[in-house]
Amino acid sequence: MPDLAGSVAERQAHLEAIASEVESCRLCPLHLTRRRGVPGSGPASAILMAVGEAPGEREDQDGLPFVGAAGQLLTELLAGIGLGRQDIFITNVLKSRPPGNRDPLPEEVLACAGYLDRQIAAIDPKVILVLGRHALQRLVPDAPWISRCHGQLMQVSERTYMPCYHPAAALYNGSLKAVLVEDFQRLRRHLDQLDPPRSDPAADTSPAAPPRAEQLGLF
Ligand code: URA
Repeated sequence: MPDLAGSVAERQAHLEAIASEVESCRLCPLHLTRRRGVPGSGPASAILMAVGEAPGEREDQDGLPFVGAAGQLLTELLAGIGLGRQDIFITNVLKSRPPGNRDPLPEEVLACAGYLDRQIAAIDPKVILVLGRHALQRLVPDAPWISRCHGQLMQVSERTYMPCYHPAAALYNGSLKAVLVEDFQRLRRHLDQLDPPRSDPAADTSPAAPPRAEQLGLF
């Protein structure tokens, strides 16, 4: 895909501009009840982006995404595939906390849509990890239920998505943690296909990556 997003420095500046807009955003009534806007965090050069639902209480307090209990599990799942939070850009569909952590309203999703779209365009990630049904509905509206498509790579309009259960779901239903672990392993294998580790002696001499459709059929 051509790099439409500019240099890393330009992308970073773009993300910082979006972040300051989010911090003072008044596009929907959530600004009346939130403490802080939560734009997202991570490097502009990330090849992986994770999109959750909305900030919770801790996130609203700290202004950072996924820093509460679900965030701890996300951090653990990432560590399990050799990634740190500094390696990926983490954000949400909504940038402000809905009162009492209720589900996002369609008008709130719409009000925040421009922020997420611009973040995705600025980062131009190779894969978007879609955390939970609200993020799936926002990013891949035609996708089947998350129970039917989790762990599968989906390509829509030149973007590659991997839907997963939301980590918070595994806090309530312990059996989902093993499913998440397995789906993150699939994600790892896909990332390895895209970007062979430098320490792999075959990395410089391996044939060109297979066509995208073949990669998507790997699992
Ligand atoms: N749940 C989310 O969807 N996002 C967060 O940032 C935290 C919890």
